[in-house]
Amino acid sequence: MADNELPPLDDEKGQWDTEAVSRRKVLGALFWGVAGLGGVATLGTAGRFLVGNALEPKAQRWVELGTAADFPTGKVQRHVYSITVADAWRDSERRGVLYAYTDDNEEFVVLDGTCTHLGCSVQWQEDADHFACPCHAGFFTREGEVVSGPPPRPLQRVDAKVENGIVKVLV
Ligand code: FES
Repeated sequence: MADNELPPLDDEKGQWDTEAVSRRKVLGALFWGVAGLGGVATLGTAGRFLVGNALEPKAQRWVELGTAADFPTGKVQRHVYSITVADAWRDSERRGVLYAYTDDNEEFVVLDGTCTHLGCSVQWQEDADHFACPCHAGFFTREGEVVSGPPPRPLQRVDAKVENGIVKVLV
């Protein structure tokens, strides 16, 4: 302890007040403890800001699309889903658009309706038998393959299964 940090000397006792030293140490420890917690909280918040949703769990959840027998054979149907996903910080809602079809009501093809170029929503055009992206004129086949335009990849295929007569997709 430096001389300029010594506690006041009690004249009657003629020695240093050890209680004052003890209080000072406790206060110092409290100060650094609180400062340390504040620093950790600040770093945690800054880290969360920088990382954003990158660490958000990709929910692997089976979502029901409907009864398999009710799917009209050979017809592409649009489905909107909404699920709540939780990460370590919060719950959030995730929505998506899927396109599903079947040729035999047993095997189902399900495509994510998000364009692989810049993420716009594609639309199924029955008459033209293709998916069209309105943003930059991207086109995809019924199977999701790129026909023309800027999309670099096919539409993402989504896992699907039929369980007890119900079509389920993994989103
Ligand atoms: S976002 Fe679909 S073509 Fe650009």
